[in-house]
Amino acid sequence: MCKSPSTNPNWHTFLTRLPKCEHHVHLEGCLTPSLIFHLASKNNVRLPNPAENPAYASIDTLTHRYGHFTSLDDFLSFYFTGMAVLQHKSDFEELAWSYFQQAHKDGVHHAEVFFDPQVHRDRGVPYSDIVDGYVAGCRRAERAFGMTTRLIMCFLRHLPLESAEKLYATALEAGDLKPHSDSDDEESRPRIHGIGCSSSEIGPPKDMYAAIYASAASKGINRTAHAGEEGDASYVAAALEFGATRIDHGVRLAEDPELMAQIAQRGTLLTVCPVSNVQLKCFDSISDVPIRKFLDAGVRFSINSDDPAYFGAYVLDCYCAVQEAFGLSVEEWRVIAENGVNGSWVGEGRKRELLEGVDRLIEEFKGLL
Ligand code: HPA
Ligand code: ZN
Repeated sequence: MCKSPSTNPNWHTFLTRLPKCEHHVHLEGCLTPSLIFHLASKNNVRLPNPAENPAYASIDTLTHRYGHFTSLDDFLSFYFTGMAVLQHKSDFEELAWSYFQQAHKDGVHHAEVFFDPQVHRDRGVPYSDIVDGYVAGCRRAERAFGMTTRLIMCFLRHLPLESAEKLYATALEAGDLKPHSDSDDEESRPRIHGIGCSSSEIGPPKDMYAAIYASAASKGINRTAHAGEEGDASYVAAALEFGATRIDHGVRLAEDPELMAQIAQRGTLLTVCPVSNVQLKCFDSISDVPIRKFLDAGVRFSINSDDPAYFGAYVLDCYCAVQEAFGLSVEEWRVIAENGVNGSWVGEGRKRELLEGVDRLIEEFKGLL
């Protein structure tokens, strides 16, 4: 999917080397069909019978089916089926490590990654195996690549509220979910840096996690929420109301200019996933994603992959697709990169390092683009 933007091949090099922050990628969305088949075989997990669901006949048929999602819920049925192959701590570590290796190649310097403990726990996987495995993958990437990482625990809206409440209590009791910390020190920082919510948007009450988010806010825990993906701008308003300080997707905000102006003024970061939006039929093409509208309105956003193994595009592919569709200027990329850094859940020192990296690259490419 990532082709050099047609006008000037230097764009591809520039976008590759631009220090990127990824804020919206689901680790379970990094399970490729080949890793699904490999882990299913290793862990004796039965995938759906191909006689009932032909997509599961082979790696190739599954990959082909991923190119034809009809909606968020159609995608989610494959997403939740695929993740059943994750059974052991080492599986979670391997999955996270596979994502971070690709992210490093794509020029990601800071990654905030989602994970979905509820479904794994429902299959009998101990909470500590899930978190220990993902934390091990994060630490390995930090040591190997010098990147910074953050784990965000997602609540799943299609499951009963009590399941989310139990998970929240477990993470607090384990001492994993703690107030925001600027530190990258392994001992003092939280193992889980924030909460989020995802899965089906239309159907469950918009404010179903209001009490959990209020509790997290009172403890100084970071909070984000998927909103305004399939749901209209009122879902974004509801997420802000129940205490999210960041919005995942948020693209339908563009339908409400008044709310868009408020969000621009507050400086709230939207984690936009343009390829995901097209793959899930939220928009017909990348050029319909409101990138231009957000830039013009001063809405802060980052560009992200969401579920790269399912949508056939890791984060650099998404950057290239945006450049292909919008032909942005270097200064517009500076704004996007800087907003991504400033909206990250890291301390001022790390932000400064990342901003200096962006600045150095832009200086280097001045006159080449
Ligand atoms: N939306 C909602 N839930 C999700 C998504 C998404 O794009 N990806 C993985 N879970
Ligand atoms: Zn998502």
